[in-house]
Amino acid sequence: MLLGSGGREDALAWRLSQSPSCGRLVAAPGNPGIARWAECVEVEPCDAAAVVSLAIKEQVELVVIGPEAPLTAGVADALRGAGIAVFGPSAAAAQIEGSKGFTKDLCARHGIPTAAYVRTAAAKDALAALDRFALPVVIKADGLAAGKGVTIAMTRAEAAAAIEAAGDSPLVIEEFLEGEEASLFALCDGEHTLALASAQDHKRVGEGDSGPNTGGMGAYSPAPVLTAELEERAMAEIVRPTARAMAAAGTPFNGVLYAGLMLTKDGPKLIEYNARFGDPECEAIMPRITGDFAEMLALVAAGRIEEVGAIELEEASTMTVIIAAQGYPGTPKTGGAIGQLDDAEADGAIVFHAGTREEGGKLVASGGRVLAVTAAGETLREARDAAYAAVAKIGFADGFHRTDIGWRELERSGQ
Ligand code: AMP
Ligand code: GLY
Repeated sequence: MLLGSGGREDALAWRLSQSPSCGRLVAAPGNPGIARWAECVEVEPCDAAAVVSLAIKEQVELVVIGPEAPLTAGVADALRGAGIAVFGPSAAAAQIEGSKGFTKDLCARHGIPTAAYVRTAAAKDALAALDRFALPVVIKADGLAAGKGVTIAMTRAEAAAAIEAAGDSPLVIEEFLEGEEASLFALCDGEHTLALASAQDHKRVGEGDSGPNTGGMGAYSPAPVLTAELEERAMAEIVRPTARAMAAAGTPFNGVLYAGLMLTKDGPKLIEYNARFGDPECEAIMPRITGDFAEMLALVAAGRIEEVGAIELEEASTMTVIIAAQGYPGTPKTGGAIGQLDDAEADGAIVFHAGTREEGGKLVASGGRVLAVTAAGETLREARDAAYAAVAKIGFADGFHRTDIGWRELERSGQ
């Protein structure tokens, strides 16, 4: 059973349903895309009691939790309490995403490379702490902020304004790290870890990475800036010590650790962790996974990651382009008709559904990010061309997309 209803979950459902060990897939609540691969049931993923009853009724052997909200709501704990296997961390372990302070303190205790920081409880402490940092300085809300809680202040006045705007809520003040960003996804069974894949997303709504932050307007995998050598360094210095530290703290992490890394001149440093797959990074990663993905996740859930063996990835390169509804990331215009998805998929691309619903037998937009158009290629350029060829075939008058996903990497590699 899969919990969630976005593009990430459509990609997970697609991959899980192709797994030889997955006889039947139930999704709660799912969406019209997920309904291609799973039986969708109208159950709210954060309602722990309802999720447990559904899992028992459907006699599911494994629950895979997609989004962070059910994790922080303790749905994994409730399922485990009922004796049901779960891929996804406990609420206590999900703090690694929910509380920046928790994660920074964990890094400090275990010597895990990250930006120097102080946690502050009130505005006056934060203002006092500012003097200890060079410019630019980073000011973060110490809680789940949906990507909106970060200010990179270029001047002391800007930093002070961000602190004052936060009122007396807890903050993390942080050293600014310089370098390229990359994301590393690693499976973790409570003790041991296995690197799955790297990816890179584009968070800004506008061309050239301009404008307001979004959940992500596109992604590609792998992120070549994270070379094999740097990936192994990130696993050895960041991910593996984190898994050990979480176990030692009595909050073992079971699920996927999504490490946001800055590749600095002193090596990879942790920017933040998420306790789940990235969206749209997941849509780019899933086509690269080979083998029995459902069994892989079941082994992780059972604490037997050593039986997964080596992870072999196919597809040299993949790209996902998000088509969003006009207005996103503000108030999106929902209800717009969507068509020609079969045409878009005719040449091998996959169109995952991120925010769609059926209305009178027709597909319409129901959210900000609507479709996640994904294609593979021998090079990033090929993946890009295939993804955009598919985007061009889709009929969605109320939608928009960025035309430059992958630009940094394409430029760097001269493609
Ligand atoms: P976060 O919500 O912690 O992922 O931060 C959002 C974005 O802000 C990151 O993806 C980075 O681009 C940037 N950022 C966060 N912390 C730092 C830092 N210490 N130095 C430089 N950039 C940062
Ligand atoms: N794409 C960013 C995230 O999933 O948090």
